[in-house]
Amino acid sequence: MNKNIVCIGAGYIGGPTMAVIAKMNPDRKVYVCDINKKRIAAWNSRNYELPIYEPGLVDVVKEVRGKNLFFTTDIKSAVKKCDIVFVGVNTPTKMFGRGAGRASDLQFWEATAREIKGYADGDKIVVEKSTLPVRTAAAMEAILNEGRGKREEGRGGEGPRFTVLSNPEFLAEGTAIKDLLSPDRVLIGGPETPEGKAAVGEICDIYAGKDGKWVARSKILTTNVWSAELTKLAANAMLAQRVSSVNALAGLCEATGADIDEVARVMGADRRIGSKFLKAGPGFGGSCFKKDVLNLVYLCESFGLHTAAEYWSGVIKMNDHQQERIVSRLFKAMFNTLANKKIAMFGFAFKADTGDTRETPAGYVARLLNEEHVRLAITDPKAIENGKRDLAGLDGITWEKDPYKAAKDADAVLLMTDWKEYPALDWGKVFKSMRKPALVFDTRNCLDAAALKRLGFRVLNVGK
Ligand code: NAD
Ligand code: UGA
Repeated sequence: MNKNIVCIGAGYIGGPTMAVIAKMNPDRKVYVCDINKKRIAAWNSRNYELPIYEPGLVDVVKEVRGKNLFFTTDIKSAVKKCDIVFVGVNTPTKMFGRGAGRASDLQFWEATAREIKGYADGDKIVVEKSTLPVRTAAAMEAILNEGRGKREEGRGGEGPRFTVLSNPEFLAEGTAIKDLLSPDRVLIGGPETPEGKAAVGEICDIYAGKDGKWVARSKILTTNVWSAELTKLAANAMLAQRVSSVNALAGLCEATGADIDEVARVMGADRRIGSKFLKAGPGFGGSCFKKDVLNLVYLCESFGLHTAAEYWSGVIKMNDHQQERIVSRLFKAMFNTLANKKIAMFGFAFKADTGDTRETPAGYVARLLNEEHVRLAITDPKAIENGKRDLAGLDGITWEKDPYKAAKDADAVLLMTDWKEYPALDWGKVFKSMRKPALVFDTRNCLDAAALKRLGFRVLNVGK
């Protein structure tokens, strides 16, 4: 078994994860492949105009690209060269047929498994890096090892042997490099067979890094494959649930005069609750929370656990409601008519420090405002290109790099993403350029509301 690694899928997960694996394992060659030629060209671009924005990523890529990290569309030769194959392809929510709107669409994953089988000329460890429904590894094992037969049946052993492991990724966008360099934990699930245990040991060695300089062994947790697959869905569902819970309390705060930031601060001081993921806002976005919770709902339903399915569905329902509530509150505050008013949307990315707009609350809110014939000027430091693509075909939307230009002559500023640039703006200048009365709706509670009021703004927040 050689130590080289190939990752199929050069997206938000494949690119940064493999760059850090290469950095921490200079004695291994790491290949990252994709069918998307444009994406691979961007990863290879001379000026490091990488296909995704992630703080610190360019520095890591500069350090290792061309030394022991290679981006390529030649999946066949990369698979032949490497005995460890990570699969980080997309697993979106299925939009057709059985399980539509809830189950994972596994077509990209299965296509990849068939490719690996077609190209492999020796034994391989195949590692699920994508987030997948529980028991996907069994299906993969069946496809990959089909035709091999079992030694004990007396017709086997011939052809490459594939051992399928689950190694879900817990990094968050915007902090991917930091999360990868010092993770809370690494999870590796494998079959409880001699081959399975040996394969888990190989993957543990990768995360320990060359000379044990990366993740402490005590933080590399191993489980059976099904626990690993389920833990990933469970962890995302628990995080999403916290966001929905705090947003459900935010509405009650608005109705009663309580302040959600105060409530969260004091709740979070209880170590059993903890302070993280208690920030009220416009609801969660991103490519994974909704998809993974829906996947959990589908799994519960498939196993007849209907009350559990309903419980997790509530997390999504609450999230959708939070975004609708933003538009309702804006409507009321702007005298029950939004038609032809100009609203400057500050931030389109689903969170700060990323250009990613998948499932962004700003996209959902922009569509609702568009239905009300609002003239929308959207600004974002990193997400304008993705945003333009998401809202293509909608009239009445302009895109501005400069937030001051976006706010000029606007009736309201609607802050959707907590970019650190926004609290630092000259809000006096913004106020002067706007139509009066000028409203700021800060859905992230990141601006100084008292200072804005002193300038003459009307201010709306979430949960206060
Ligand atoms: P992505 O869409 O950014 O990247 C997936 C890539 O796979 C694409 O570039 C696509 O072209 C490529 N691909 C698809 N089929 C292929 C094939 N047959 N051969 C080669 N390449 C192929 O998606 P992502 O955000 O990187 O997510 C990938 C997986 O990782 C998902 O299951 C997701 O749930 C999981 N995940 C993502 C994050 C995150 O922060 N984005 C975090 C943890 C887990
Ligand atoms: C999330 C998880 O945090 C990662 O562990 C996981 O690997 C990843 O999903 C995944 O599987 O893709 P990510 O979606 O990148 O990471 O970002 P988060 O920081 O979790 O934020 C998700 C959404 O929740 C954002 O829209 C954010 O603004 C929102 N959020 C988060 C809140 O509204 N309040 C909070 O307190 C925290």
